[in-house]
Amino acid sequence: MTPKPYTHRDAVPFRPVDWTGEYPPAYARGSVPQHVAVVMDGNGRWANRRGLSRVEGHKAGEAALLDVVAGALQAGVKHLSVYAFSTENWARSPEEVRFLMGFNREVLHRRRDQLNEWGVRVRWAGRRPRLWRSVISELEYAQELTKSNTALTLTMCVNYGGRVEIADAVRSIADDVSTGRLRPSAVTEKLIAKRLYQPDMPDVDLFVRSSGEQRTSNFLLWQSAYAEMVFLDTLWPDFTRRDLWHAIDIYTGRDRRFGGAVDAPDTPA
Ligand code: FPP
Repeated sequence: MTPKPYTHRDAVPFRPVDWTGEYPPAYARGSVPQHVAVVMDGNGRWANRRGLSRVEGHKAGEAALLDVVAGALQAGVKHLSVYAFSTENWARSPEEVRFLMGFNREVLHRRRDQLNEWGVRVRWAGRRPRLWRSVISELEYAQELTKSNTALTLTMCVNYGGRVEIADAVRSIADDVSTGRLRPSAVTEKLIAKRLYQPDMPDVDLFVRSSGEQRTSNFLLWQSAYAEMVFLDTLWPDFTRRDLWHAIDIYTGRDRRFGGAVDAPDTPA
């Protein structure tokens, strides 16, 4: 179904990916994370510190998101997943919830052609129940429009929660077991991963959160089991592609062992 035309004026004009004239550092070959997950936190604090209402902070977060998508494309990141609305965000004031629903819909509508032109494949991860139908329509429209793009997959996590994603997967498996379509012994990590909202989403390599908070807040719990966590103090509306590149820099210096270990007798105590 084609969503209704959007009438809001475009806040930030269309710009090419490298409109800032800046380029990412020369990362070592193969060292750029394939999948970066971002918790876009700090909009409310950014606004309140300026004497503005929380929604003004969310509005300012749109340009930050677009800049980070551009920076991810420049750096060669293949998957970028962003937490746009969590299953816990329904607990906010009715006004803020209403704003965030409408805002998600508008941003998708306003930016889908720009993202398409950049070669971005947009995807949605989240639950249908409770989510506004108009938001689902925009998400599905953007998914369809951009489905053949290969430069970067941008997963918009809207009405998303990590625990409920796992619970939904487990329930669908339990249904199959109860009707005899699956044997309990067939329930493996691989099978659970296949029942998540986006089964072909790779594991998260780098998990970034803005605003100085240091927690995952239920974001991509399954996929982030071995992610490197980078917490930056910048509030989301001030976040730019340079912050993303800085996070990638920190990531490239990490020693990822995935549970393995080797003796390193020369390591200073
Ligand atoms: C957290 O800031 C952010 C969210 C609840 C997600 C919404 C994110 C945006 C609106 C950024 C751009 C998104 C789209 C869809 C383009 P917060 O309200 O928790 O800030 P606080 O911790 O300072 O209160």
